[in-house]
Parts: sequence; structure tokens; C-alpha cells
Amino acid sequence: MELRIAVVPGDGIGPDIVREAVSVLKKVCEVFNHTLVTETVLAGGAAIDEYGIPLPESTLDACKRADAVLLGAVGGPKWDNVESSKRPEKALLGLRSALGLFCNLRPALLYKQLKSACPLRADIIGEGLDIMVVRELTGGIYFGEKGKSEDGESAYDIMAYSKPEVERIARKAFEIARKRNGKVTSVDKANVLETSRLWRATTEAVHKEYEDVELNHLYVDNASMQLVRNPHQFDVILTENMFGDILSDEASMITGSIGMLPSASLREDSFGMYEPIHGSAPDIAGMDKANPIATILSVAMMLRYTFGLSDEAASVEKAVYDALEDGLRCADIYSEGTTLLGTAAMGSAIAARIR
Ligand code: IPM
Ligand code: MG
Repeated sequence: MELRIAVVPGDGIGPDIVREAVSVLKKVCEVFNHTLVTETVLAGGAAIDEYGIPLPESTLDACKRADAVLLGAVGGPKWDNVESSKRPEKALLGLRSALGLFCNLRPALLYKQLKSACPLRADIIGEGLDIMVVRELTGGIYFGEKGKSEDGESAYDIMAYSKPEVERIARKAFEIARKRNGKVTSVDKANVLETSRLWRATTEAVHKEYEDVELNHLYVDNASMQLVRNPHQFDVILTENMFGDILSDEASMITGSIGMLPSASLREDSFGMYEPIHGSAPDIAGMDKANPIATILSVAMMLRYTFGLSDEAASVEKAVYDALEDGLRCADIYSEGTTLLGTAAMGSAIAARIR
């Protein structure tokens, strides 16, 4: 099979981690006899420096031409003072929106080897913690009308959702729950927000097509508390854009480190964009310190969701598991008695374990 990937390293540690993820992907293609065709393009601060804008048309075109996009991270203090319409984050939001990637999957899985990196008590962690956050990605307050008054004394961001937008993401969540443990927790703020009341009613209506799946609702404040009180009550968490952003960072910490969490941003066809959920960590950029595992696991998601290559995806996940089992750690998940590796060494160790 031919795998055509647009590679968008971005800023900060983006290039460091993406380099390792691409080398793992190369190894997968070697072992399983696939052809890898990559096109590397700029977005975020790197594109601002080169072209003066965060998301050049040529970058978007390259992504549209590809089967899938592999993205590192964007942003950094260097571009914090550029005007808001040109911030590096605009590249990420622009890609999600222009490519129609409304469904963001963020699996939070605690590897048994990393229990000591999880800040929760052992009796709360228990065994086999595995949560899938399904985040709506192209609507809500991120993409509503926004503005500020001329005197800079007031500002607003509008949060809006339409029924079809909620329906399609709710369907995805129910479909995914069916293949997992059959439970969806929909998170909203229906005691306050009109959009949340629409969200809840629409989710209930879609649920009628999925009665084999259990559905419950939590307010977002309660959900964030429940995540650390009893994370095992969750299977699939379905939520809107901003709540999903916040809750997925919280869920990631339960898994030991935000450096472990991959993501897939999907639409109805097989196209997808794959990226770690963490940011560009400019303070450690280029220092061979970043953990490449979230990006490498994003490659596994790409193999599974875009290319339908489940054996290949499993081989990547198994290689990560084996590296952890062999005591290999990056700084964010390091504990005494394990072996501390830099970004490149971790990438090679995982690539060497692909078979
Ligand atoms: C994420 C990030 C982005 C978001 C930022 C960088 C725009 O935090 O992917 O979670 O808020 O969606
Ligand atoms: Mg985030």
C-alpha cells in the first residue's frame, strides 16, 4: 500500500518528536512492505518566520493532497506578541476547520509500567485504566464570532452549536463505545448554557439509535472532579470543543504524563490528522529531552483509522509497550531504577522493536 503523508513538524519540540515518529513509520513500512511518500511543510511560528502567515495556502494544499497529516506542535513565546489573527495556533485551528476534522479522539490509557508516574493513589488507579475522550473539534467557542471593543475594555467569544454538528459527533461516540465497553458519558453545562441544553437533547435523540450503549450525562465541573475521584467509571467521554480541550489534559495526567497521549482528528471519510495532545514545549526544544511517544502513538492511530492497517498499528503500540517493559523512559516518565533516554534514543528503541 502507498501511504501519502503530509508532515507538519511545526515549532518547539515539534521537529524533534516528528522526526522520531517518521522514522518509526519508515520502519513499519519496511517490515510490512508499504511505500511511504512524505511531503514536509511549514505551519505555525515556522511559517510566520518564512511566509509571514501561520497557515500558507501551500501547506493546506499539501495536506489536502495527502491521505493523512502528521503534525508535531505549534506556538512559542517568540510569536506571543503577533496580532491575534496571525498567532501560530491559527494554523492548527485553520487546518482542523479547513479539513473538516470535526471528530477528535484522545485515548487516555495508563500503561501498567507507568503506574508510579500517575499522581493518583494506587487504589484509585486500579488496573487497566482506559478512557476515550471524543471531543467536538470544529465548533463551539473556538470558532464562534469573537471580538473586542476599540478601547480594549471588553471582549467576547460566542459559543454556538447546531443540531447536525452535535448529531455527527454523538454518533461517532456511540459507534466507538460499541467497540469498547459500551458506555458514553456526555459532558456539558446544561444547567447554565443554552448550547449545552441543545447538546444534551440532541445526544439523547441520537442515543435512540444506539440503545445497546449506556448513556449518562455529567456537568463539566462534576466530570472534572469525577475524573480524579473515580476514573474507572468512564469509558467514552463525549464533549464539546473547549470542555474536551480541558478534560483531555486532565485525563492525560492520569496516564502519567501528557507526553504519552496521541490524538486523531477525523471526518466521515478515512482522511485524518494525527498529533500528540501536548504543546510545543519551547523550553526544551532541540535539547533531545522531549518524549516522542505521544507522536509515535499518533502514528499508530493513523495506521488504524486512515489506512485500516490494524496489524501495523498494533506493532507500533506493542513496540512502545515493549520499550516501557524494558525500562526505557524519557524524563517526563522517568522513575528510579529505569533507564533515562533522550528523544532520539527513545525513537530508535521503539523503531527497533517493530516487527
Ligand atoms: C490542543 C491544544 C490546542 C487546542 C491549541 C494549541 C489551539 O491545546 O490540541 O488541545 O486548544 O485545541
Ligand atoms: Mg489542549
